[in-house]
Amino acid sequence: MDATFRRPVLSPAAVPDAPHLLVIRGVRAIDPTRALDATVDITIEGGTITRIGPGAAAQVAGSEHARVIDGAGLWAVPAFVDLHAHLREPGQEYKEEIASGLNAAAAGGYAHVCVMPNTKPVNDTRAVTELMLRRAEEHGGAQLHPIAAITMGQKGKDLTEMAELRDAGIVGVSDDGVCVMNSGVMRRALEYAKNFDIPVIQHAEDHDLTAGAEMHEGNVSARLGLRGWPRVAEDVIIARDILLTEYTRARYHAAHISTLGAVRIMREAKSRGIDATAEVTPHHLLLTDASVIGYDTACKVNPPLREPEDVEALRRALADGTIDAIATDHAPHSPLEKDCEFAEASPGMIGLELCFGLLLGLVGESGITLPRLLEALSSRPARIIGIEPPTLKEGARAELTLVDPGARYRVEEMKLRSKSHNTPFLKHEMTARIVMTLSRGKVIFDALGAGARS
Ligand code: DOR
Repeated sequence: MDATFRRPVLSPAAVPDAPHLLVIRGVRAIDPTRALDATVDITIEGGTITRIGPGAAAQVAGSEHARVIDGAGLWAVPAFVDLHAHLREPGQEYKEEIASGLNAAAAGGYAHVCVMPNTKPVNDTRAVTELMLRRAEEHGGAQLHPIAAITMGQKGKDLTEMAELRDAGIVGVSDDGVCVMNSGVMRRALEYAKNFDIPVIQHAEDHDLTAGAEMHEGNVSARLGLRGWPRVAEDVIIARDILLTEYTRARYHAAHISTLGAVRIMREAKSRGIDATAEVTPHHLLLTDASVIGYDTACKVNPPLREPEDVEALRRALADGTIDAIATDHAPHSPLEKDCEFAEASPGMIGLELCFGLLLGLVGESGITLPRLLEALSSRPARIIGIEPPTLKEGARAELTLVDPGARYRVEEMKLRSKSHNTPFLKHEMTARIVMTLSRGKVIFDALGAGARS
């Protein structure tokens, strides 16, 4: 909280200002919100998309104020919106700062990032919300949207002042990292949040069922001798919360769902018209508990990596829309919290920079289409938090991401913008790269310009 605590971090000031006129020539533009998939020229003037269509590039030929990007082989898609990131400021800036986290977000194609309240102190007051917003504005990159705690200190007892917090700029409430265990408190939270049309975002974990747990409870945990976190600990909370949501007619969002049971409950709730949404992380879509066999603490995460049948259920639920959104659960930790025994390690992995490159390979699997993947990364999460979804439309503020879908490279520690490098994907071969991100009409990440680092 102390202003002297801040450390300088590379800011988007290092990225040259967007020229008044930017033209992306011959790019494949894909926007599921408009059923658009065509090769076009995109003209951006003063931060607004002024033209999408053929021939725009010819209009600016010869203009010295225009920057023209050759879009051949690239895709332009609506910029991404992350519902779930831990940026650790205030309080644990050695793991991540708002500036470094937003740099990582921009490099991952994100124009908007929602930040969880489990900072130190917890974001349960206007002062912390305002501090986060101020830091983000000073930085000037991707737009930060604070999520405040549901209960004071995330202790599960007294509700936060949601009226005041909403007024300060929050987009939702969550005690993420801990579950709201008390049904009476959860009911009141849903009723209170409903007044402000914000979602109550639950970290679904019955702590009585997960006491001392280190990984998913199953054959692998039995073999490794690690204490298990059973699926049912997630399922009982989501089932209870759905009943409370139906009763209160409020808005509920399930964070990082990981089990086939949670998928089944969400599917049934949606079929009955209950206002409940869900997100899934890239790691729960890609990894299983078998990754823990080498006791790699990078694979320790909460909720834990599950079994192949859970992964398949999550993929199918993403494909059919039962799972609305993909959220990174970007959870930076330093070597202090990770280079230790499995039991002692903190749960979490980073995700902002890697999410899209990791997930593009899922297109075609389990019915997941490219438009559905893009929608789950952008317009669906935007609608959940009530912001204007990024779109490729004439007259819209430019919020788009340029992707090189043919890029092949290995994730290397030194190239990550996040301050922390806790990911099991460090040597992974990626099959797509983000090359440019625009947020609120401004270029916030640029790997194409002169001097840009890759
Ligand atoms: O793995 C996790 N890490 N899950 C959470 O819910 C919290 C997060 C963190 O803050 O590190």
